[in-house]
Amino acid sequence: MLITKAPKGTQDLLPSDSWKWQYLEKSFDEICRVFGYRQIRFPTFEHTELFLRGVGDTTDIVQKQMYTFNDKGGRSVTLRPEGTASVARSYVENSLFQYPLPLKMYYTVPCFRYEKSQKGRLREFHQFGVEAFGATGPEIDAEVTSLAVAFLKSVGLDDIEVSINSIGCPECRAKYNEALKEFLRPKLDGLCDTCKSRFERNPLRILDCKSEECNRICSGAPRLLDYICDDCRQHFEGYKKSLENLGISYKVDDSVVRGLDYYTKTVFEIISGGFAVCGGGRYDGLIEEIGGDSTPAVGFGLGIERLLLRLQESGAKMPQKPVIDFYIVSMGEAAYKRAQEMAYKLRQKGVSCDVDFMHRSLKAQMKYADKLGATYTMVLGEDEIASGKGRIKNMATGEQNEVSLEELHSFFGR
Ligand code: HAM
Repeated sequence: MLITKAPKGTQDLLPSDSWKWQYLEKSFDEICRVFGYRQIRFPTFEHTELFLRGVGDTTDIVQKQMYTFNDKGGRSVTLRPEGTASVARSYVENSLFQYPLPLKMYYTVPCFRYEKSQKGRLREFHQFGVEAFGATGPEIDAEVTSLAVAFLKSVGLDDIEVSINSIGCPECRAKYNEALKEFLRPKLDGLCDTCKSRFERNPLRILDCKSEECNRICSGAPRLLDYICDDCRQHFEGYKKSLENLGISYKVDDSVVRGLDYYTKTVFEIISGGFAVCGGGRYDGLIEEIGGDSTPAVGFGLGIERLLLRLQESGAKMPQKPVIDFYIVSMGEAAYKRAQEMAYKLRQKGVSCDVDFMHRSLKAQMKYADKLGATYTMVLGEDEIASGKGRIKNMATGEQNEVSLEELHSFFGR
């Protein structure tokens, strides 16, 4: 039955797992705050043209993976496949260059790509991202990389490798494209149809084609790093030095070309257990490409599902909070009502607590409280109501304390 099945490549986040996401989201918010990045939010869909121009119309994302449709007004819109183009659009639209530069922003967003769903690859997935606008030097490339590394380490993912590369600027890339075409021309017939169409317009994209045959044909292709100009080389050296200065180990990997067209100079990926958990780089031409003034920029996107997958595989521990701190077990109709009233007062003072709604037995209520992980419980019956006092039990130690029902909140420091 279709109506009881989520679409392929999408996932529900169940109540039993949502704490993990909340933990990661809070950790990311905090690391961004510490690094001086502020949150930006932007629409889930954009005019299709933005991604055609921004991400590039010869990329896999644009050619094969976008959720594009005409809305009821006949405009072509696309569910965002990534966040950078939207942030760049917002930068131009809202004249964000008026803010003190560099302007450092971050986001947590769902993204949509029509991909073959498999382990670590979804059609709706979520990204943490940062984008920094206005700084030209390689130091900020290193800052952005270091933010991703610090975040991954802070949530317990130690098994990571930072792979870096430079894909040069439009000038050096033009020279490289010629050399690459020269290399590929005799093998053109063996390439997939998409890559054949990329040959003239954007041969670099052939290097990140997912077809095994195209990959085989590309082995031994000229290295982009051998073609970059002095300015791009200096930038790359500066990036490496800045990473070293921050104590971040990296490996230069010239197979990192990234699957989006806007990159210039620095590109990097953070790999864990064979997965690219994070990818980013500099994109000095994007703002101009979409109609703004030339503006240097750098950022990354980090896949939340992939991160979780790797955290689980590597056995990292995430701090889980109990669902509630306090459960009031009630016996009898009067206590049932009183428990609800007490819980409401406590909740308004910020104490997380719960009560019975199922008219269960004392034993069954205790079991439920235990399943929720309640730190404390109290049994409320006729005697407790009559005396105005009850015993709070610490579920872990078994220790009990007598407290006034009216003053319960003070037991919880509220
Ligand atoms: P990206 O490499 O396409 O870059 O995506 C970034 C991260 O999103 C990947 O490293 C991966 O963890 C995750 N990801 C991508 N596709 C999927 C998928 N189908 N399923 C699950 N996870 C996925 C970008 O999106 C750029 N906007 C990054 C950037 C920001 N560059 C500069 N600023």
